[in-house]
Amino acid sequence: MQAAVQRPKRLTGTITPPGDKSISHRAAIFNAIADGEARIDNYGPGADCQSTLRVLRALGTQIDGKGSSFTVCGGILQEPADILNTGNSGTTTRLMAGVLAGQSFLSVMTGDRSIRSRPMGRIVEPLRLMGAEVDGRDGGTLAPLTFRGGSLHGIEYRLPVASAQLKSALLLAGLFADGETVLAQPALSRDHTELMFRAMGAKVTEDGLSVSVKRARLHAVDVSVPADISSAAYWLVAAVCHPDAEVTIVGVGTNPTRTGILDALQAMGADVSVINERTEGGEQVADLVARSSQLHATEIAGDLIPRLVDEVPILALAACFAKGTTVIHDAAELRVKESDRLQATSKELSRMGASVEELDDGLRITGGRALTGAACRSYADHRIAMTLGIAGLLASGETTIAAAETASISYPSFWEELAGLGDGATS
Ligand code: S3P
Repeated sequence: MQAAVQRPKRLTGTITPPGDKSISHRAAIFNAIADGEARIDNYGPGADCQSTLRVLRALGTQIDGKGSSFTVCGGILQEPADILNTGNSGTTTRLMAGVLAGQSFLSVMTGDRSIRSRPMGRIVEPLRLMGAEVDGRDGGTLAPLTFRGGSLHGIEYRLPVASAQLKSALLLAGLFADGETVLAQPALSRDHTELMFRAMGAKVTEDGLSVSVKRARLHAVDVSVPADISSAAYWLVAAVCHPDAEVTIVGVGTNPTRTGILDALQAMGADVSVINERTEGGEQVADLVARSSQLHATEIAGDLIPRLVDEVPILALAACFAKGTTVIHDAAELRVKESDRLQATSKELSRMGASVEELDDGLRITGGRALTGAACRSYADHRIAMTLGIAGLLASGETTIAAAETASISYPSFWEELAGLGDGATS
């Protein structure tokens, strides 16, 4: 599908983004290995979250109900009859690797072309140190991966990257391991696993950047998933960059390990209000109101990066509308996401007339050049497709995005909602 987008004269509306992808994966996986039955509401509708449900069903988990509300009947997983297919989902692949490493049966896991090119050595190496038999292509660094686990023992391990997927994989394996699993993080990444483990009865200890867990059986816990701040980010940037806009985004998860986007936009002078703050199911939630703003450049680097890792492409777009030069550093991890996001962002925004220079570990963006509609590519990456959709809302003329359906990896209704925000008139 090709999307075609033009700039509306006025941008207004209220949006409830889909359930948070990270929390959805965890709610399903953790309840599948827990004792008891749990109800999950507002589960992420995207293809990635559906990949997790498919894999769990293939491992014998009973999941009853349709759409975004269902029950998960937890217990002991069974040897799958076939290869497990994780589609495009890095979170499914890496978190399930931690689970499969703890099971004594044989399993094989693979995914689409993107998944088969993403680094898996970072999970395979420590899982082997814990005693799991794990292998894969290229010495165990690429999927397909094979597992014959069980008999794990805890390790003390320094994570080479501030990756919540890696941390969560090892914490999951730690639930099945003798002794303690102690992880030293280079910087804090999202902590949904730690929060949900605790709610499910596991003892998780945090000391600065160190996190540890001991063998435990989780107990089932109902989860009502908040709206995804990574999906909200597109509408925030659309509103603050458009000259005549006010957009309200409802029920958004504002866990502090995920709100780097709010901090970065605030540092750029954006008019974003955080209202109706509340706590739901152990996670912070709020409504966000974003309005047209005069932005200025900032620097985005260091410990802030893991707190906005999926928002770098859309922040780069915001920087195109900011006075001055914004520099993003310490973001080399973006090169091994669903696509090389530094390259894709720089190439496609430059095609629209922006000044976006690729750095080894980031981007240098000089704001103030008007964007012009162009024929763009999504690189089969949902976050690139959606960033370009928002760029189209802010550019003169028409922007087309090829293979725009990839947005449905995390946000199936994205294009419909984008069309609904405009006032029908274009500018
Ligand atoms: C995720 C962690 C992040 C993020 C991904 C979801 C998670 O990846 O990019 O979309 O749910 O743990 P890394 O932790 O590998 O950076």
